[in-house]
Amino acid sequence: MGVEKSSAWKALLEHSNAGASSQKLMDLFKDESRSERFSIDLEEMFLDYSKNRITDQTLELLLDLATQQQLPNWIEKLLSGEEVNDTEHRSAMHAALRAGGANVKGKAKDVQVQIETEFKKMSLIVEKIRSGHWRGFSGKPITDVVNIGVGGSDLGPLMMTNALQTIKSPINLHFISSIDGTQTSNILKNLNQETTLFLLASKSFTTIDTLSNAETAKDWLAEVVDDADTLLSQHFIGVSTKPDMMSEWGIPKDNQLVFWDWVGGRYSMWSTIGLPIALQIGMSGFREMLEGASVMDKHFGEAPLSRNIPVLMGLIDVWNINFLGIHAKAILPYDARLKYLPSYFEQLVMESNGKSVNRSGEKVAYKTCPILWGEVGPNAQHAFYQLLHQGTQPVMCDFIAPVERDDFDAHGLTEKEGSLRYQHELALANCFAQSRVLMLGDAAIPDAIKAQFDSPFKHYPGNQPSNTILLKSISAKTMGMLVALYEHKTFVESVIWEINPFDQWGVELGKLIAKETHAAIKDTKKAEEFDASTQGLIKRVI
Ligand code: F6P
Repeated sequence: MGVEKSSAWKALLEHSNAGASSQKLMDLFKDESRSERFSIDLEEMFLDYSKNRITDQTLELLLDLATQQQLPNWIEKLLSGEEVNDTEHRSAMHAALRAGGANVKGKAKDVQVQIETEFKKMSLIVEKIRSGHWRGFSGKPITDVVNIGVGGSDLGPLMMTNALQTIKSPINLHFISSIDGTQTSNILKNLNQETTLFLLASKSFTTIDTLSNAETAKDWLAEVVDDADTLLSQHFIGVSTKPDMMSEWGIPKDNQLVFWDWVGGRYSMWSTIGLPIALQIGMSGFREMLEGASVMDKHFGEAPLSRNIPVLMGLIDVWNINFLGIHAKAILPYDARLKYLPSYFEQLVMESNGKSVNRSGEKVAYKTCPILWGEVGPNAQHAFYQLLHQGTQPVMCDFIAPVERDDFDAHGLTEKEGSLRYQHELALANCFAQSRVLMLGDAAIPDAIKAQFDSPFKHYPGNQPSNTILLKSISAKTMGMLVALYEHKTFVESVIWEINPFDQWGVELGKLIAKETHAAIKDTKKAEEFDASTQGLIKRVI
């Protein structure tokens, strides 16, 4: 029986139809205790979920749904390393990678020795590179490291190293991911073969995007390095679950870091895939990030559902999606150091929950994952906020901002000049203003200027739900907490929707067909096999 036929789901439907779906946020705020009651502090994180269209009764019914769906058992299964990825018969033990497995049990505990062994090897490599002892073919220290990977083998390290960019690093980091070679040529033309090291990051070690970029990098090195062994041993490190394939490609065993099938690609930045992060902030900083995630793991595993941040955020999004008909979610960080956070969450959330078949293989009769996108909030205000405020599509928003910036002098702007502090205050002011207007709409217009907005073109419907997450500052720990929060929130939603968030069968066919269209571009006779549109397109590019 699908969850939509369950008593808890039907109770929420009745609640919605009885008026909950049309209640106005501004009316809900007549309860002066609301914002206090609908917010949670967890160490250096604060969540204000009061600007959601929920009441105490809504939350009660959502928690009933969670109980009915046996969410506590599923959380236990996840954190104990049981098989939660049933189509691939795997566990999903990304939490086991955090803080020595402090907040996991069962099989997730059993893998700690192999994790620590790999982290020790990673630590030695990080130290050797950061200290200048890793030398290129001409004997010079490595100054630039290029991560070649895509999806989960790129987005996590890219996002985190940018978030923590004010932590000074002895190594310049670069990221190549796209198959078209643009990034590769743009980056390589500014680098020196003598002092450049490549990280070939690929869980499967079969991704054509990554392997083609790696071949280009190898050719670039071969322009000046005659000896293949030297080229590979001094200028390539591999990170994969496939040591044999790394060896076959030519990466020496000493230059190989492994991780395991029970780490999903989009959940892998906590593993050796996070090598660029450790190169940026040091292994101790990397472990602080793991510690932050572990704080969220502990909270997720122990806090009562009614005071559990990932549970509440997941359930409220289920309410928004399945009972308020909101199928778009915007991630709006109000600090440009988080520029890549939306992209990271796009893969984490939509590759996990962008599914329409439940764990029994039946087509679901309800909506699942929303369309999720985002941009640095202040910039988005000059891009798509028009739609948020006056469009026809309801959108739920997550605002994310740091309370403090500890990097004023990092920009050469000391506090006495004030300009960076002033700009940080402007960012916070805009963050708070936008969620207020999205909530109140016209009611947010100050009396003194109401006349200026007396026009159908200047009407703000408001009533758009949002969460605001404040981090004390952007640090390795708070970023670890934040990412783990969204991992667990995504899992909560998958449990309610009875879908498997840990496989991604939907991405396979496109890759296979691309091999055929590529063959047809090389040999147009093969194009005849395709539909007229594809044939026409192919014929235009040969
Ligand atoms: O095609 C999707 C995907 O498999 C993602 O799940 C993964 O993160 C990405 O491609 C890269 O895969 P790999 O790390 O195996 O190269």
